[in-house]
Amino acid sequence: MDTIGYNESNVAVRLGLSDINDLQMRALPIYRKENLYRREEVDLAIDLFLLQGELTSSELYRLLSEKEQQLLKQAEVLSVDENGSGRATVSLYPSGNRLFFSDHAWPQLSQAPGTAVPWGQVMFVGTDSRWLARSTIRTPVANALDLCTGSGIHALLAATHVKQAVAVDINPRAAQCTLFNALASGCKNLEVKTGDLYDPVGDEKFDLITANPPFVPSPVNTLAYRDGGPSGEDVQRRIVAGLQKHLAPGGVAQIITEVGESNEISVADRVRGWLRDAPINLHVLKFRIFPAAVYAIGHGAGDNFNELLESVDDWASNLRQQGYSRVVAVLLTFQWSDSVNGSPWNRTDEAYPPRDNCGDIISKIFDIENKISSHRFQAELESKKFSRIAPVILNENRVLGGNLTQVSKGFLSKQPLSVEYSLDPIELDLLAALEQTVDYTTLLSVASNIGLSVSVLKNSLMSLYRKRLIEAQ
Ligand SMILES: C[S@@+](CC[C@H](N)C(=O)[O-])C[C@H]1O[C@@H](n2cnc3c(N)ncnc32)[C@H](O)[C@@H]1O
Repeated sequence: MDTIGYNESNVAVRLGLSDINDLQMRALPIYRKENLYRREEVDLAIDLFLLQGELTSSELYRLLSEKEQQLLKQAEVLSVDENGSGRATVSLYPSGNRLFFSDHAWPQLSQAPGTAVPWGQVMFVGTDSRWLARSTIRTPVANALDLCTGSGIHALLAATHVKQAVAVDINPRAAQCTLFNALASGCKNLEVKTGDLYDPVGDEKFDLITANPPFVPSPVNTLAYRDGGPSGEDVQRRIVAGLQKHLAPGGVAQIITEVGESNEISVADRVRGWLRDAPINLHVLKFRIFPAAVYAIGHGAGDNFNELLESVDDWASNLRQQGYSRVVAVLLTFQWSDSVNGSPWNRTDEAYPPRDNCGDIISKIFDIENKISSHRFQAELESKKFSRIAPVILNENRVLGGNLTQVSKGFLSKQPLSVEYSLDPIELDLLAALEQTVDYTTLLSVASNIGLSVSVLKNSLMSLYRKRLIEAQ
């Protein structure tokens, strides 16, 4: 598949998408007619293994040799009818340069209308799977645990940079799927276990823990990989509570999830509650914010219009009962707090979802936050030189004819993860002055010319440094 260019970026380009995460079932006929009409080998592979399409006998033979077809049939991955036309029974999802088998993303395409998705369905490699795959901090460490592993994507990716990885899923079919993917990719340092969260690993501790749990706050319990109970917290709360016991010293845990929020209780407050008193630093990175009504409309389902409206009502009522005004798609990153740096911190940022690997950016946020919370850094500020890390893109909210408002936002250009930071007018002025590298004394004279006190200058510099918009050398 590698030789024909069946990888994440090429598949996206072939389908006319800027990111494979923009793939939509409703656009299937458009992809086929407008993007895959050349029927080259890679187009056939996309149709068969990603778009759940049927290939004619001659197309099948152009893509796969007789021997390859036989092997795939034996593995029950390919089903060929009496005319020689073939369909894949599972999909093969590209993620970066790796491929993962899992159940189809759209089981309804091969089902009678109104049939429920089978309970044991293994989760496809979806948007949230890719967000976590791209955001994982890929430091070489001794061991990793992937909870709620599904197809095993995060366990298999971890196995590339840790000595030993463990994958756990409560669904035996998911554990089998992970094992199949391990065998298909020749991975030898992955152990697959079936069971409830940490149960199969006893008291073991891990340097990296990843999870994409069932997180949807749902009034129904129909999809094992999706529904997280009415609050959405049934599984994720237990994963977070277990970190105190299972996260090794210096270790990192990353969870991609959705958390309900209200004006009274933020995501960080809610998650800190699940941590109980564990001295663990928490970074919340918000990728998408869905107002409750939008979330309910997105999840409501029915075979006719009245059923659909009733279902939307059920979803909206559930969110109301939970006290959620919105549901936020977030990446949660946890790391033990070092007592030298004071009490454990929470930090919340907003970002455009990652389009490429960005674990090092998340890791840098932890470095900065730890550094800033040590008192030495403040004292060292005066001996430093400052510069912008990269050009900063500003989203300014101006009142017509008026001044910049407080809600101006800035982010670094050309980053795989664009974290958006609110900027005040003083920070905007400082950013303009930092087009070139400038030392503290020069900044001090700029500040005094525009009437800024030393403490305001220092606070604004710290704030820009914290927002990762400037470097301090
Ligand atoms: C949202 S899917 C994620 C699959 C995969 N990790 C990914 O990112 O594509 C959630 C998975 O959690 C599993 N799961 C649900 N409850 C669990 C539990 N209590 N213990 C272990 N796994 C669980 C489901 O079977 C499902 O495979």
